[in-house]
Amino acid sequence: MVVQTPAIESSDRQHTVAIVDDIPSNLTYFKEALETFGYQTITAENGKEALEKIMATMPDLVLSDVNMPEMNGYELCEALKGTEETRDVPVILVTAQDDRDALIRGLEIGADDFLIKPVNLSELQARVRNLLIIKDFRDQSKVYTQHLEDEVARRTSDLNAAVVELKSLNVQLKGSIQDTIQRLSTAAEYRDNDTAAHIWRMSHYSKVVAKSLGLSRDIVENVLYSSPMHDVGKIGTPDYILLKRGKLTPDEKKIMDAHTTIGESILSGSDHPLLVMAREVAGNHHEWWNGEGYPRKIRGEEIPLTARIVAVADVYDALTTKRVYKEAWSIDDAFTHLEEGAGTHFDPTCVGAILDARDDILAIQNSTEHQQMLKAEENKT
Ligand SMILES: [Fe+2]
Ligand SMILES: [Fe+2]
Repeated sequence: MVVQTPAIESSDRQHTVAIVDDIPSNLTYFKEALETFGYQTITAENGKEALEKIMATMPDLVLSDVNMPEMNGYELCEALKGTEETRDVPVILVTAQDDRDALIRGLEIGADDFLIKPVNLSELQARVRNLLIIKDFRDQSKVYTQHLEDEVARRTSDLNAAVVELKSLNVQLKGSIQDTIQRLSTAAEYRDNDTAAHIWRMSHYSKVVAKSLGLSRDIVENVLYSSPMHDVGKIGTPDYILLKRGKLTPDEKKIMDAHTTIGESILSGSDHPLLVMAREVAGNHHEWWNGEGYPRKIRGEEIPLTARIVAVADVYDALTTKRVYKEAWSIDDAFTHLEEGAGTHFDPTCVGAILDARDDILAIQNSTEHQQMLKAEENKT
C-alpha cells in the first residue's frame, strides 16, 4: 500500500523555552541569552507558576532551577514527565554545584539534561539546540505515526464498507435467483396437476432429508431452493400427454419422461451453485437406485445425492396427498412404502434419513404456513 506521508525534516519555526528560577537576575540572564539565540521565552518564579504557564502555552523546552520555593525543580520535572501532554517536553535542570546525588535524582525523575552554575552560555546554547532537534524529530515522528494510523483506519473502514456492500449484493443476488426459481416452478405448475402446496412441501421435505443426512448448511439451503424445479421440464410436455387421464402409450411415456432432460436443458449454462444443483435434480429425480429409472438408467451413487433426496421427498408427498384417483396415505403407510422401496427405487440412506426425521416431516405438514396454503387452494377450486 502506498501512503502519502508527511516528510520528517528539521523544523525552522521559532521555539519557545520556559525559564523557571526564583532569582529575578537569573531569569533576566537566561531570558536575554535565549532570546539572543533566537528563541521565544516565557518565565516563572517557581515550579507551581511554571506548571500553570507550561500547561497553557506548551513550550518546546523547560529550563528550570532546582532549589525554589512552592515547588522545586525536581517536583516540576516529575509533574511534567507524569503528564501525557508534557511528557515529551525536554527539561534541563540547573543545579548550584556539581552535586552527584542531585544529578542522579534528576535522572531518575526523567530530566533530559543538566547545567551547572555558573552557566556557560555556549554550553547552554548547545544543550538547548540538541534537545530541540530531538524534540522536533519526536514531534514529527508522532505526526507521521498518527498519519499512518489514520490512513490504516480509513482504509480498514473502506474495506469493511466494501465487504458489507458485497454481502448485501450477494444477498440481493441470492434473492433474485430464488425469486426466478419460484417463478419458473410456478410456470411448471400451470402445466400440471401439481400445486403450489406440493412444491412447497416437497422442497421442505427435501431440506429435512438433507439436514438429517448431516449435509452442510449451505447445501441444505440450496436443496430447499433447487428442489422446487424438479419438474420444470414439464413446461415442454404437450397437454394431451400431461393432462391425459388414462394410461400413457409407450411413445407417450417416452415424451412424458423427457421432462427430465428438458428440465436439464432449461437449467443448463449457469455455474451458480443453486442452478447447477437444480439442473442435477431436474435431470435425475426419476433415476432409481437399482438402475431401473429414467432417463439414463444410472444407478446407486452415480445418481447425484440431491436427486436421490428429492426422489424420496417427492414420492413421499405424492403418497400422503389426496388425488382424484386415491385418498391420502397415512405417514406410517407412506414410510412403509419408502422402506420397501429402499435399495430398489430409493437410496436406503435417504430413506433412513426421512424415517429419522419423522417429527420434522409432521411439523411441515402441520405448520400454519402449510395450512394457509391448503386453504388458499381450496378457495381457488
Ligand atoms: Fe418429475
Ligand atoms: Fe413433484
